[in-house]
Amino acid sequence: MRLVLHVWRQKNAGSPGAMKRYESNEVNPDMSMLELLDVVNEDLIVKGEEPIAFEHDCREGICGSCGFMIDGVAHGPLPATTVCQLTMRHFKDGQQLYIEPWRARAFPVIKDLIVDRSAFDRIIAAGGYVSVPTGSAPDGNTIPVPKENADRAMDAAACIGCGACVAACPNASAALFTGAKISHLGLLPQGQPERSQRALAMVHQYNAEGFGSCTNIGECEAACPKEISLEVIARMNRDFLAASFERR
Ligand code: SF4
Ligand code: FES
Repeated sequence: MRLVLHVWRQKNAGSPGAMKRYESNEVNPDMSMLELLDVVNEDLIVKGEEPIAFEHDCREGICGSCGFMIDGVAHGPLPATTVCQLTMRHFKDGQQLYIEPWRARAFPVIKDLIVDRSAFDRIIAAGGYVSVPTGSAPDGNTIPVPKENADRAMDAAACIGCGACVAACPNASAALFTGAKISHLGLLPQGQPERSQRALAMVHQYNAEGFGSCTNIGECEAACPKEISLEVIARMNRDFLAASFERR
């Protein structure tokens, strides 16, 4: 099949960017979006041109490295699918695709489709951990966890930190990501000692990074490749409010 790609090219954060047109005439319907970019890049390298820069690692939908907009939709048109798992059979022969990096002030473009997501790392560093006293490892079953809480914590822990939620949100809010990280620890007994401090510190850091506020639009949930539920935002808000009152 044949596809026409319009890809955002930007040399570095300080240079202006522009869309560039690339045509690929021998697209295998089974190849992923990243494999298509590999093929386009091989042609560019042969021609002596700069290949398109994009992030990737696992190519199995589990690491969160990949991600960009396809026709204005974070990770493209398939629900619950990262771009590394999105195969070309979901597009029509001859279709034109517009590929751009995540757009958010807190995610500045580094090059082409790569943005700086270190703001997420700083949110995690602010409180996304539990303290573990030294000593031998406790038996795995000594702390009972209600099944419903274990399931909810696991659902929240599925967040791969890709940033699609921020890119999809009209406010560029990181509420779904931060809520997922606060929830997966706050729902478990091991996460209780720092629960209040965690909510305060992580929400303060998310504000400091320049992400917008959540106004319950829900685009984040729709774009999330791991189907993280909006309920994590409600839990983050509850923990943050409770912690703020505790401090008074
Ligand atoms: S909440 Fe979903 S969209 Fe946001 S970073 Fe996590 S996995 Fe990606
Ligand atoms: S490359 Fe790991 S999730 Fe896409």
